Amino acid sequence: MNFSLSEEQQFLQKTARDFARSEVLPQAAKIDAEHKHPKEIVDKMAQIGLMGIAVSDEHGGSGMDNVSYVLAIEEIARACASTAVIMSVNNSLVCDPISRYGSDAQKAKWLPLLASGKKLGCFAISEPEAGSDAAAQTTLATLEGDEWVISGTKNWITNGPVADVCVLMAMTDKSQGHRGISAFLLPMDAPGVSTSPPDEKLGIRGSKSCQIFLENVRLPKDALLGALGKGFGVAMSTLDGGRIGIAAQALGIARACLEDGLEYSLQRKTFGKPIAEHQSIQWKLADMATEVDAARLLVLKAAHLKDTGKPYGKAAAIAKLFASDIANKAGRECIQIFGGNGFVTEYPAERHFRDAKITEIYEGTSEIQRLVITNYLRKEA
Ligand code: CAA
Repeated sequence: MNFSLSEEQQFLQKTARDFARSEVLPQAAKIDAEHKHPKEIVDKMAQIGLMGIAVSDEHGGSGMDNVSYVLAIEEIARACASTAVIMSVNNSLVCDPISRYGSDAQKAKWLPLLASGKKLGCFAISEPEAGSDAAAQTTLATLEGDEWVISGTKNWITNGPVADVCVLMAMTDKSQGHRGISAFLLPMDAPGVSTSPPDEKLGIRGSKSCQIFLENVRLPKDALLGALGKGFGVAMSTLDGGRIGIAAQALGIARACLEDGLEYSLQRKTFGKPIAEHQSIQWKLADMATEVDAARLLVLKAAHLKDTGKPYGKAAAIAKLFASDIANKAGRECIQIFGGNGFVTEYPAERHFRDAKITEIYEGTSEIQRLVITNYLRKEA
């Protein structure tokens, strides 16, 4: 077993860390307070290769592996969780399925645009009545001559208000249940596509999400992504990879809690000494450090399995379940270390606490991760 990163992985990690410290962290509080999509930062991330990390060189990406991808996400999330999820969705939920399931023409058209930051992607499976029960889709796509005609509503679509292209799931044969779902590539400027005002959210306020309304949207026959009726598999396998990205985001948030909590505890004095010298604070920091380390190992393991062509769905669910849990715990403890200052927006602790919550919900709730893990355990028994 080799715990060392390659030179290339170390280079990307340093590039992302330097960028996060100099360009993202100074803006993070403002992005949150103003609920602002950080377009300039996203453009710069594209310039340094972070928007299409695992996209092949041939298609204008960085041609790197998934270990590099999670290293970069952790660094960006440590600075700003909102920015990290914008990056994660574009990489894991849009570039990845296009790379794996797209036709040559779809790859040639979309991947260079997405990797270069000229276009941004979103992924739409959830609906008002289909969240955890992802197969309960009602968005309908009907073939009329050479065109698909699609109507329905999608919910909580991260990047939706600012996206140019959407990996969309829709029912092409209602009678077949999940085997009647197909995936499509939907340009967001297609006639009949509209969006709700952005969702007002507890956390990750710089990451814009919304509903997408589709009213008789007409797409050419070749807008299908992957085979007809295989969309549920496209979505589930895409989410396996996406969950590794969200686990890395949660890890970055937990690290932010640890680092900010440590820094504060070295300066803040009570009873005549820095609070870092009180055992009650030391235990919190030690637990946070241990859990951050454990989460990182799980995240890297899942990414490594994906890179080496091994099954990674179970490892991805385990990494997301654990990392999102410890991020929420770290968020609580970070506020406790900051005390009264943890409760006011002048300090970063309350932002970390709010940002952590969504990692237990999107790309499959913690309850769904447990269901996925147990399904693997039962199959393996
Ligand atoms: N890869 C490929 N195929 C898979 C798969 C995987 N990981 N998991 C399941 N499948 C296939 C199965 O093989 C099966 O196919 P066949 O019947 O053709 O053999 C089919 O899918 C159905 O499998 P299940 O019976 O296990 O499916 P289910 O209906 O019981 O649901 C579930 C499974 C795990 C609960 C699934 O619905 C799920 O993951 N729900 C959560 C949805 C989710 O994560 N939503 C996130 C929204 S996206 C988002 O949040 C993005 C964002 O904004 C940031």
